[in-house]
Amino acid sequence: MIAPSILSADFAHLADEARRVEGSDWLHVDVMDAHFVPNLTLGLPVVESLLKATDIPLDCHLMIEDPGRWAPPYAEAGAHNVTFHAEATDDPIAVARDIRAAGAKAGLSVKPNTPIEPYLEILREFDTLLVMSVEPGFGGQSFIAHVLDKARTVRRLVDAGELRLIVEIDGGINADTIEQAAEAGIDCFVAGSAVYNTADPGATVQKLRRQAAA
Ligand code: DX5
Ligand code: ZN
Repeated sequence: MIAPSILSADFAHLADEARRVEGSDWLHVDVMDAHFVPNLTLGLPVVESLLKATDIPLDCHLMIEDPGRWAPPYAEAGAHNVTFHAEATDDPIAVARDIRAAGAKAGLSVKPNTPIEPYLEILREFDTLLVMSVEPGFGGQSFIAHVLDKARTVRRLVDAGELRLIVEIDGGINADTIEQAAEAGIDCFVAGSAVYNTADPGATVQKLRRQAAA
């Protein structure tokens, strides 16, 4: 699966930018609050408008503090997937249950230096694990390869039937890095700059998908 990130799109033309990547599996929407990360992007009103503008399922990645308060409304609005950060809450299970109760899939995200072992037990409460392969906050950064160890660990548990989970990766994914991520067992690849900084983002999505499947 490929999930283009609109972080690298033109925010003044989001409906058009979504149309340019039609056929993508998910559209990745980076919500930042200038507290959890040193950047500010968009919030619920923009997501609500985007939901009306595209049929691509929205993969909302909340890089925010207090997800227990702010995450469920994204699920109620109709986001397909609502992912929040393990580092941002003391009670990830409660947040996941609230997201699911509100009708969306729940995702847990971990920053590059956050170990996965403390969270393995609770992953059964989630539909997606989003492994960050850059420090969250900005597009266009370089891929951090050591995070693939976490992906491999979780992949083994999924393959052994101990977990049912989509393993997703976010940050620095492009034609040079997607194959090593695919080999580590990633199911879903977020790509921002690699998709939107090309002349034909839709064609780039297809190209990345073929590369990941090769
Ligand atoms: C970074 C965001 C990413 C970002 C990735 O904090 O979570 O989704 O859009 O951008 P690239 O693909 O350019 O690294
Ligand atoms: Zn993201």
